[in-house]
Amino acid sequence: MSNYLGLIRRYWDFIPIEDENSICTLLEGNTPLISSTYLGPWLGLRLYLKYEGLNPTGSFKDRGMTVAVSKAIEEGARAIMCASTGNTSASAAAYAAKGGLNCYILVPEGKIARGKLAQAMVHGAKVVAIKGNFDDALRIVREITTKFSIKLVNSLNPFRLEGQKTASFEICDQLGRAPEYLCIPVGNAGNITAYWMGFSEYHERHKIDSRPRLLGIQAEGAAPIVRGEIVENPETIATAIRIGNPARWKEALKAVEESEGHMEMVSDKEIIQAYQLLAQKEGLFVEPASAASVAGLIKMVRTGWVEKGALVVCVLTGHGLKDPDVALDLSGLITECGPTVEQVIEKLGL
Ligand code: F0G
Repeated sequence: MSNYLGLIRRYWDFIPIEDENSICTLLEGNTPLISSTYLGPWLGLRLYLKYEGLNPTGSFKDRGMTVAVSKAIEEGARAIMCASTGNTSASAAAYAAKGGLNCYILVPEGKIARGKLAQAMVHGAKVVAIKGNFDDALRIVREITTKFSIKLVNSLNPFRLEGQKTASFEICDQLGRAPEYLCIPVGNAGNITAYWMGFSEYHERHKIDSRPRLLGIQAEGAAPIVRGEIVENPETIATAIRIGNPARWKEALKAVEESEGHMEMVSDKEIIQAYQLLAQKEGLFVEPASAASVAGLIKMVRTGWVEKGALVVCVLTGHGLKDPDVALDLSGLITECGPTVEQVIEKLGL
């Protein structure tokens, strides 16, 4: 029997859930912090990779969702709703199924990785694809959830952040201290905001002597915070962070400033390079948005922003299986072969 209890029970004192009976959990969290054996030495860093793709639905979203859905249940809600580039919808659909709630999801048509869409559908959510982008979807969800008795579970919901902040606690527990830098992809900017809350709370309570500098990474075609202006038509291969007007923009900027960190952007080409390095040299299959954090770190080491020898954690936000099309498009063709030993030996060039 697993003695892992899920985030809410594990960090009970830090999370505002009052009624234990309302807890809706899939035993999220407790993800590995993997020591990098290739990128770290290559970049001259003490580098660790927080593999959030190993949460129950394959992304970090489960941390926030367990708290948001438990709170919704505590408050007597019957339905939840979100806009999503994919992962939030997969997580919302799974937790709604577990908690017996109806789930309504708005996604931008044609811009959702197939694994994520499959998750939302299989868990029985009502999925609507709108002819617009994530920012349009979120605007509509905000309006509908004020008109109907449906809980919004995007990261505008403060309970999402209360759950997501636990990733910082885990990192401090796993390292025995806070890292010097935390590198993280930024889309709607909820996660970076939550990490800062987490490091700050742990710093206060456990007298950890430092907090990391936050390095927030956006994709070049969807980099409103780096550019300092809304991006009307965001575009990037990293569909999870294809967002032009992040809801937590101000909070993210404040977190980066307070931590004396930095916001950077990377090209799709850089994202793909990092994606392939992670897969081929670290054995870690992540989705493109997650590789953005590593691409950003490589850039910031090259520009001298991060010094050699630094203790760095990169957050790998989602599993690579979420987006099989990108993986297959980037790989070579499969070799076809007849069914004999000789033919296989010949094809393999042995
Ligand atoms: N990485 C992945 C894999 C994501 O799915 C997201 C966001 C982010 C990074 C960025 O996190 O939005 O808190 O800054 N995905 C949201 C969604 C927008 O709808 O699934 P953020």
